[in-house]
Amino acid sequence: WWDNVQMGPPDVILGITEAYKRDTDPKKVNLGVGAYRDDEGKPFVLPSVRKAEEIVFKKCLNHEYAPIGGEAAYTEAVAKLAFGADSPVLKEKSNCTVQTLSGTGALRLGFEFITKHYAKNKEVWLPSPTWGNHPQICNTLGLPHKKYRYYDPKTHGFDLQGALEDICNIPEGSIILLHACAHNPTGVDPRPNDWKQLSQAIKEKKLYPFFDMAYQGFATGSVDNDAFAVRLFVKEGHQVTLAQSFAKNMGLYGERAGALTFLCGDAESAAKVMSQVKIMIRTMYSNPPLFGARIVQEILNNPEIEKQWLVDVKHMADRIISMRKQLRAGIEGAGNKRSWQHVTDQIGMFCYTGLKPEEVERLTKEFHIYLTKDGRISVAGISSKNVNYVAESIHKVTS
Ligand code: LMR
Repeated sequence: WWDNVQMGPPDVILGITEAYKRDTDPKKVNLGVGAYRDDEGKPFVLPSVRKAEEIVFKKCLNHEYAPIGGEAAYTEAVAKLAFGADSPVLKEKSNCTVQTLSGTGALRLGFEFITKHYAKNKEVWLPSPTWGNHPQICNTLGLPHKKYRYYDPKTHGFDLQGALEDICNIPEGSIILLHACAHNPTGVDPRPNDWKQLSQAIKEKKLYPFFDMAYQGFATGSVDNDAFAVRLFVKEGHQVTLAQSFAKNMGLYGERAGALTFLCGDAESAAKVMSQVKIMIRTMYSNPPLFGARIVQEILNNPEIEKQWLVDVKHMADRIISMRKQLRAGIEGAGNKRSWQHVTDQIGMFCYTGLKPEEVERLTKEFHIYLTKDGRISVAGISSKNVNYVAESIHKVTS
């Protein structure tokens, strides 16, 4: 029955983990997938998450189906986290927010909803570069996608002029995807003033902003600062769509807790959108998983645990910053001639090193260091134990 099926390529990110697992060399280092590790290189369960788990466990809850769009206590809490407690959107109930299977599930559902119901120009404009799964999801849905300039390889920074120029040429009514903070893969975010200019240009071209916020808290260590762009756009009257993930900022990778919000202008329109989103969910996976959402809900709705969570997020963000410093110092200390300032300038989980594909290949083949082909490293995979080895290896393949 399946003789016609061709072998597909491994995933550009998760395929790296598969290759890493097959490597038997004790020196091996995985800087591929964006998953936080502690300084021992071990997966990290946040103390706030442990506490929330205990509370959830003690409640002796049942395992009935969740509502199609998730529990209201969850969707209300996550919308509040994104838009701010005093957001008029929440008071007006003009948001349609549902629990999704983490950030990817939110993107898939959001793009699928656009494919079916969006009445304007069904074309998604992605930053160049962007997370590998963005174009893949569009391809799966047959949703056309194009690129706007975002990263400037010369400065290793944000190309504001290029982005603005490209936005001016995007056909009216198209969808523009924006990374809310801690851009993946570059670690380069627009500054507040850049966001204001982007908002203006996007408004003038009547584009539809779709935010992907997978790292709230990871860029600056503050969940409010990291929501700046989303809140600014809302304040300036954009009816945004927002994909949220709690994989990184709560370390709930495998629990698949995320959310999708459509801002609809008023409660009546939000109710109509909700009715159609529910049909889409029901025919895809019926209703979302409970456990991860219960933990998120417990953290966000319990002020004491929430306080601990904010400390935990900051702790993760700070460790990454300290690894950036040590990595840069290590490469420079080895006498490397290139500039490595971007290692400490960039923010969030990733560093877009500028390593060429052949240098990446050497790092993996000769030094057993795994990273994506575009030269992105997950700084969260670096620890005090391996930072010198990684720095020396990078020095060797670049000199
Ligand atoms: C990454 O970019 O490494 C993460 O977002 C994990 C993933 O699913 O790709």
